[in-house]
Amino acid sequence: MKMTVGAVILAAGEGKRLKLDAPKPLAPCLDKKLVDFPIRELQKFFSRNNLTGTQTAVIGHQKELVQSYISSRYPEVKFAVQERQLGTADALRAYFNSSSNTHQFDYTLVICADTPVVSEKELTQMLELLKQEGCDGVAATFTESNPKGYGRIIRGTKGFHIVEEKDATDEQRKITEVNSGLYLLKTSYVLEHLKNVDSNNKSGEFYLTDVFKDGFNVKALCFPQGHIFLGVNNLEQLEFVETVLRKQKIADLREGGVRFIDSNHTYIDDEVEIGAGTVVYPNTYITGKTKIGKNVVIEMGAQIRDSEVADNAKVLAYTLLEDAKLHTKAHAGPFARLRPGSDIGPEAKIGNFVEIKKAVLDRGVKVSHLSYVGDAFIGEETNIGCGFITCNYDGANKHITRIGKNCFIGSDSQTVAPVEIGDECFVASATTVTKNMPDGSFAISRGQQSTKEGMAKRFIKVKEKK
Ligand code: UD1
Ligand code: CA
Repeated sequence: MKMTVGAVILAAGEGKRLKLDAPKPLAPCLDKKLVDFPIRELQKFFSRNNLTGTQTAVIGHQKELVQSYISSRYPEVKFAVQERQLGTADALRAYFNSSSNTHQFDYTLVICADTPVVSEKELTQMLELLKQEGCDGVAATFTESNPKGYGRIIRGTKGFHIVEEKDATDEQRKITEVNSGLYLLKTSYVLEHLKNVDSNNKSGEFYLTDVFKDGFNVKALCFPQGHIFLGVNNLEQLEFVETVLRKQKIADLREGGVRFIDSNHTYIDDEVEIGAGTVVYPNTYITGKTKIGKNVVIEMGAQIRDSEVADNAKVLAYTLLEDAKLHTKAHAGPFARLRPGSDIGPEAKIGNFVEIKKAVLDRGVKVSHLSYVGDAFIGEETNIGCGFITCNYDGANKHITRIGKNCFIGSDSQTVAPVEIGDECFVASATTVTKNMPDGSFAISRGQQSTKEGMAKRFIKVKEKK
């Protein structure tokens, strides 16, 4: 029979020390919020271990905001409201009071919303210990040379108990094994012992840690890597967990064949995909839902958000891509900007100081220098000279420019949209195209040059020597 687990995410706290506008569960973490991480790991934990059950977030501080964020992304997550934050045991009582179903699960798992590095692996290890030993509860612990602020683990001959920092004696404070705040408990056990938890302690709070007692059938599972359980209470800790998560992401990508020149200065969001053989230079930001193919080169200073870069393409130094597509073997940069809706065809080339917006460039198109292409379609193998501009905006509306295939568009020319240029056209340098051009046509619009011999000296100013 399938085991059932009720998972509880403690998310009622305020998180004052983060000094953010948002409640703590909604503090930013990589491209997500803190609370996304435990929810995602719980989902993995359920499916890996073939468990059924529910996830419930205990909310309190700014509960509407927290609830609307979670339910828009994870409609299956349930909520329990803790009106006043009277302690972690009180939070769990709020959970059990929220629905009688919560009493029926074999196990109750408690995780905090502010420990984003805890993964499905630790949860699974706890479950395995619980099953093997047939015990009533497991608490995840770790050793911390500077244990300040944590509950200390006092191991008995059987079982253990936890003393909070405030309530600990000087001797107890020297103990370096500390409580992580992550627990897996038999539901019947926690229901029975939660009843007896009082607030007779220095904080006047109801401590969930009081359900663990010497002589009871409970185990403290000590994990060697304590940083996994680091909670985010201030901005320094937030930076630390983000660094850890990023390192894990980079390690996974490296395992899959991605080469990093200096991963300490490479910023990659959680959902980014990168194929084998790709090289990533330092000072690159690859974020959002970006997908990068195989054997791609991403040079230094590149910033790529919500974009697709196909196999064998190149993003050269200091190039920005946002909601853009670079097809196979296309090149962009150095110093190019591909704004939303840029779709750069296979083997196309975007050079330095070129800005592209909402434009589809077909196979082999070249826009090599100093140009703006917006709201445009350009046919295959067309060459756009240096300093070309699609004049797409009339002050009120944007208009479309269409240029056919195999065209030659001379340097310093403009198209005033809406306008269409057919296939195999030739636009002379410095021409302003305002009228449609049929296939195979030539356009020129510039004043005749007249040359006056010897006249330059009238115009050349020479500085007087002092
Ligand atoms: C808790 C543990 C401590 C452990 C530490 C690990 C208790 C009594 N102590 O202490 O042993 O070493 O975590 O980080 O549990 N919360 C609520 N409602 C409340 C109080 C807290 O939802 O009324 C939530 C918080 O938002 C947070 C989590 O529970 O996500 C932990 O609460 P916190 O106040 O940070 O507990 P600590 O004092 O750090
Ligand atoms: Ca804490």
